[in-house]
Amino acid sequence: MKLIVAIIRPEKLNDVLERLYRAEVRGLTVSRVMGHGGETEQVETYRGTTVKVELHEKVRLEIGVSDSFVDITVGALLAGAHTGAVGDGKVFVLPVESVYRIRTGERDEAAVTPALTDPTAR
Ligand SMILES: Nc1ncnc2c1ncn2[C@@H]1O[C@H](COP(=O)(O)OP(=O)(O)OP(=O)(O)O)[C@@H](O)[C@H]1O
Ligand SMILES: [Mg+2]
Repeated sequence: MKLIVAIIRPEKLNDVLERLYRAEVRGLTVSRVMGHGGETEQVETYRGTTVKVELHEKVRLEIGVSDSFVDITVGALLAGAHTGAVGDGKVFVLPVESVYRIRTGERDEAAVTPALTDPTAR
């Protein structure tokens, strides 16, 4: 299992959500965040030059998936969030030790976007 964390442009969220839905990825968390992508701006001050670290509004997605869903999920994120301009964001893939569905006590593969399922059951 993996936890896929993506930082994307807010205006690309709908496109990403649609692609994830079409890829049958179910279950995700979305947060509004502020981020910095490494670009700096030189600012003149009375004491000399300083660097301004500007923060931009971004959206963070967290998606827990079984291993067989990693590539399709990353593909949906890369395609849906791409504009080609600097600041499109990042996708991180993290290992996950265990996942529990609180309602049923099910764990791991049974508790995330699974490899093989009845789509009506999701
Ligand atoms: N190394 C990082 N760790 C955590 N978050 C990051 C990292 N790099 C980027 N982000 C997040 O992603 C957002 C967008 O980053 P951005 O797309 O500018 O990355 P980049 O590596 O500078 O790529 P680009 O060259 O396309 O701008 C940032 O505002 C920040 O929220
Ligand atoms: Mg950047």
